[in-house]
Amino acid sequence: MSKPLAGIRIIDFTHVQAGPACTQLLAWFGADVIKVERPGAGDVTRSQLRDIPDVDALYFTMLNSNKRSITLDTKTQDGKRVLEKMISEFDVLVENFGPGALDRMGFTWERIQQLNPKLIHASVKGFSEGHHYEDLKVYENVAQCAGGAASTTGWWKGENSPPTISAAALGDTNTGMHLAIGILTAIIGRNQTGKGQKVAVSMQDAVLNLCRVKMRDQQRLEKIGYLEEYPQYPHEMEAFADKVTPRGGNAGGGGQPGWILKCKGWETDPNAYIYFTVQGHAWEPICDALGKPEWKTDPAYTTPRARQPHIDEIFATIENFIKDKTKFEAVDIFRKYDIPCAPVLSMKELLRDESLRKSGSIVEVPHKTRGSYYTIGSPIKFSDLKPEVTASPLLGEHTDEVLGELGYSKDQIATFHAVGVV
Ligand code: COA
Repeated sequence: MSKPLAGIRIIDFTHVQAGPACTQLLAWFGADVIKVERPGAGDVTRSQLRDIPDVDALYFTMLNSNKRSITLDTKTQDGKRVLEKMISEFDVLVENFGPGALDRMGFTWERIQQLNPKLIHASVKGFSEGHHYEDLKVYENVAQCAGGAASTTGWWKGENSPPTISAAALGDTNTGMHLAIGILTAIIGRNQTGKGQKVAVSMQDAVLNLCRVKMRDQQRLEKIGYLEEYPQYPHEMEAFADKVTPRGGNAGGGGQPGWILKCKGWETDPNAYIYFTVQGHAWEPICDALGKPEWKTDPAYTTPRARQPHIDEIFATIENFIKDKTKFEAVDIFRKYDIPCAPVLSMKELLRDESLRKSGSIVEVPHKTRGSYYTIGSPIKFSDLKPEVTASPLLGEHTDEVLGELGYSKDQIATFHAVGVV
């Protein structure tokens, strides 16, 4: 079948992670994504964190599959003209340059609209337009700090408990995913109005959107004075004194208390753990699984509120129960009782996970110069579309092809090469 986004042409003026993650997603679903890169070097991730000399790094290949690449120096007059032609003919321009870079290149939103009123201009910046930090350049961890993730992640007491960064790309890929939703919405809007529009997502906003539950807790804390679901309750109430949502360690802070628990081998294996959730209505099955039937009727344990003062003891009991079981054995026991839990999986285990391979969530992709590489496929599954992941392009691999499609003659293209425009 033809892919749903077939026919949508995207100028991919993105680099590093936030923008490329967005355009890669759209390319999987059928959009023709043309990555525009600076001649000579291209996206900085081609050469960052290389594992093979002179070959595109995994950092690049894992974020730029299914795209075509052209080189174009958009600071030259000829380069600007080529970009103008692309803007006139394409549907979407996506960029995540530093603040003001596109304007300095001569492509203000006003100019873009003059060239093509139907074009959708999608943009990622660290902070939103008009924000008092709008001039700042931003990378992942900066956004995690500015968006509330760092202040609410990690441990809350002791010398080694500063605000903590998540390894998940909450600032980068997450922002790209928000932008993709914005682009698809603007495309549907354009079908109704015939007009393009500017779609902007700031990394701070995208992180904050994922910290919604922590903003919920901040307001509850200000009203009630403490947060019952946090591990500080009820033995460390001083943690709530300043009325700032505290870090909760491995507690979810939601309605279901949970914790990371040691399994057999934790002394030597840093990932021999499971996450265990004490789901309210699964309390009786939990008691059955642990062989603690007396907890089912003891008023000190029968309700979530009654259990909270004993939550450490409950987790210690579960840990004692699983201390001679591997994380997989422990989960196999608890799953029979319908208890929400999972092993802590390492990257090594995930890379080799048969179910993820089978579902296409991890795929092996042949590549012209690196042999083949593994990458993460579409996390979105459809009944009528199986996104096929193809290799990321070499730098400028499609320059001549795309310029030809734009109507440039072989001679003109040769001249562009000779003077370094492409
Ligand atoms: N031809 C000519 N010039 C080009 C070009 C091309 N094809 N592509 C980029 N450039 C130029 C830009 O015009 C800009 O020039 P100028 O600053 O002289 O006007 C220059 O390259 C650098 O762009 P910039 O985006 O500022 O790169 P940087 O390496 O200094 O900063 C970031 C990198 C990620 C910090 C910055 O781009 C940023 O804050 N982006 C927005 C937030 C974001 O997406 N961050 C996370 C990325 S994962």
